[in-house]
This record gives sequence, C-alpha cells and structure tokens, in this order.
Amino acid sequence: MAARVLNGNEIAAEFRAEVAVSAGQLASTSGVIPGLAAVLVGDDPASAVYVRNKGRACAEAGIFSEIFYWPSHARQDDLLAFIDRLNADSRFHGILVQLPLPEQLDETTVIQRVDPRKDVDGLHPVNQGRVLQGEPAFLPCTPFGVQQLLLRSGYDPAGKHVVIVGRSNIVGKPLAALLMQRAPGGNATVTVCHTRTRDLPEITRQADILVAAMGVPGAIGADMVRKGAVVIDVGINRVDDASRRRGYRLVGDVEYEAVAAKAEAITPVPGGIGPMTIAMLLRNTVEAARHTATALNNALEAALRSADANQ
Ligand code: GUN
Repeated sequence: MAARVLNGNEIAAEFRAEVAVSAGQLASTSGVIPGLAAVLVGDDPASAVYVRNKGRACAEAGIFSEIFYWPSHARQDDLLAFIDRLNADSRFHGILVQLPLPEQLDETTVIQRVDPRKDVDGLHPVNQGRVLQGEPAFLPCTPFGVQQLLLRSGYDPAGKHVVIVGRSNIVGKPLAALLMQRAPGGNATVTVCHTRTRDLPEITRQADILVAAMGVPGAIGADMVRKGAVVIDVGINRVDDASRRRGYRLVGDVEYEAVAAKAEAITPVPGGIGPMTIAMLLRNTVEAARHTATALNNALEAALRSADANQ
C-alpha cells in the first residue's frame, strides 16, 4: 500500500494561523509588534528564495520583518558589527543569519555573535546547550518542525526507535537532543548515523521513524527502510532537470517513489519539512517578543553571567 503523505504545507498553515493569532494578541495587549531581522550574505540562489519566503510568511502572520542583504565579499568584522547593531535594535526580537555563509566568514563566530535572546533560529550554543539539558530555549527551527509534524500527524516519538542520518549542528544533533528528552514530544530511543557509520542500511532498517538529514539526493533507498516505518525527509537538494522551466527540480535525501511504496508515512520534498521550518521560525519570533521581559530572558541572562564568570 502507498504511504500516507505527511503534508507539511497543511500542518505549517495551521501553525502559521496560530502564530498570527498570538502575534495579534501580543500587539493588542502590549503594543509589541514582533520583529525579525534576516541577514543574507552573498548570492546563493536557494538561500535567497528561503529568506524571501521567510519574509513573506512573517508579513502574513503579522510579524514585522526586514531582510538585510550583504555582498558575498563581506568582511567578518563588518558583519559582526552589524549583528551588534541588530542585537541593540528594539524593533527586532529575532535575528536570523541565513546559512551557509561565504567561505571567508566563520559561521561559528557569526552565530555566537547573535544575542541568545534574539536567536530565533536556535543555533547559538546557549540555546543548543539548554535544549540538550532540557531547559526552556529557542528550539532550532528544523528539528522543532520535525517534532511538531510528527506529533500533529499522530506519530508520538515516545518509546520509538528514531534513526537520524546526519549529524549537523543545525539538524541532526539538536533533533537527537530534542527527541531523547524526558518531555512531551521526546522519550524516543535515538540513534544518530553519519559518514563514518558502518553498515548504515543495517541500522536504518531498525528505525520506527527514520529521519534523513545528510543533504545527499536520494541517498536513502527502499532497501534501507523497514516496512511500515515513518520516513521524514529533511533534505532539500537542487538537481538539474532540463524539462523544468528553471532548469532544476527539488529532491530530498530519500528515493521518494521506492520508499513511499514501503513506508507507512513519508514527507514529500518540497512541501514536507521546509514549510514547517518557516512556521517554527515565526513561532520562535513571537515567543521572543513575548519573552522580552519574562522568565526565559532572566534565565538566559543568568546563564550568560555564569558563563562569563567561568571564563
Ligand atoms: N540554512 C538552511 N536551513 C537554515 C535554517 O534553518 N536557518 C538558517 N539560518 N540557515 C539555514
């Protein structure tokens, strides 16, 4: 039987509608309009599309946003000084620096420059550390989106064996941390596989929920999937396709047709995890605006103080 298709567009639309209500309530009760600053460095066409889509989604949800374009030859010091300005700009509760960055820029340094209270991407080590420890934090948008898509589709990860293929800081590692937590939406048994994993298919076939997040088109074939598994495809890859107007099409990390014939459920690409990532960014931005003067803020400040004291 063909797999159930988990429609990320539909579930993300539900989230975006909820976020719009929260943003409206926040504006009417406190006068605060949530604001997002998006920084795009260079001319990577895929990144430009993602950032534009994020800006459009903000507008629809009642979030003020501005995109700041930097040339591909941007200097690190200039970019860091600009992030300092955004950190101090009260119009923006959230800051997003679209990745990847051009080669001359150090991603780690740039990400660490964003104030953790404005890190709605959930990539700052303070937020990632807090996720690992099960403390309140901004959850990284893609892992958060994977978790919420599973829950809203009726696939609670609790007690399930989740196999994640890919160990990036943006998806694999934080997703493992999120799903293994002793918390609602967590309690999974998690295995993380990567390029040095021996006999990968042997392990992926043990997954109740298989998450492909390695950025390699079609890398997960049907032989790597257990019959009846739930398959989440995080990959978004451009492959040449002369039959398309744009000259390319988007494919995931999963061989969709073959795996869909075997899985219980599968996310498509596009229209799966991509829209969920954007919905979670909006949600984090409204939360950032709401938390400006609350407990999360205080907790992050205390964490920063103790980190400073320990340096
Ligand atoms: N590049 C690909 N995905 C993401 C994301 O979720 N956040 C940022 N900042 N860059 C990305």
